[in-house]
Amino acid sequence: MIIQFTGMSGSGKTTLAQIAKQALLKHNILVEVIDGDEYRKVLCSDLGFSRQDRNQNIRRLAFVAYKLSQCGIITIICAINPYEEIRKEIGEIYPNVKTVFVDCDLPVLIERDTKGLYKKALLPQGHPEKINNLTGVNDPYEAPINADLHIQTGLEPVDASAKKLVEFVLHNITKAPLV
Ligand code: ADX
Repeated sequence: MIIQFTGMSGSGKTTLAQIAKQALLKHNILVEVIDGDEYRKVLCSDLGFSRQDRNQNIRRLAFVAYKLSQCGIITIICAINPYEEIRKEIGEIYPNVKTVFVDCDLPVLIERDTKGLYKKALLPQGHPEKINNLTGVNDPYEAPINADLHIQTGLEPVDASAKKLVEFVLHNITKAPLV
């Protein structure tokens, strides 16, 4: 199974995936987390944040996810993954892809701002440190139309969100044990 997350920066994708991974390990289920930030340092270091580059980024992550999923490892793609077209494409190319919407309202993200990116994106035009293409602020974020699971990380503690993800995986594994 491939789980493609979609959600804005700071919505809790990586934390959620890591907690779920540990919980699923207790059920003897192997999980690999493919983290956008990590892969952008290595396999995707040539890519920026244009629509084309973001889609290419997801294509590469999904290919790795597919290979791991073929070995029986549940693979979670933790990237913003902002465009419907590429999420749909990944779902059509590979078997057993689930889309999970890691949803958090912008005011909460701005309040948390763990990486300081929202502060920079909200700087006045012309400021030397301003970011001009932050997803959800001044770059598009297309919320998924038909997510398989919708988790609202701004409304509950991360453990509660992780529990929903674990239950979702356990439920879907029973139905499709081979991939
Ligand atoms: S994606 O859009 O291609 O799916 P990905 O998840 O790999 O993005 O990378 C997003 C991460 O890159 C963010 O969590 C943040 O740390 C960093 N980042 C730097 N600049 C931007 C930007 N302009 N928009 C979004 N993320 C950015």
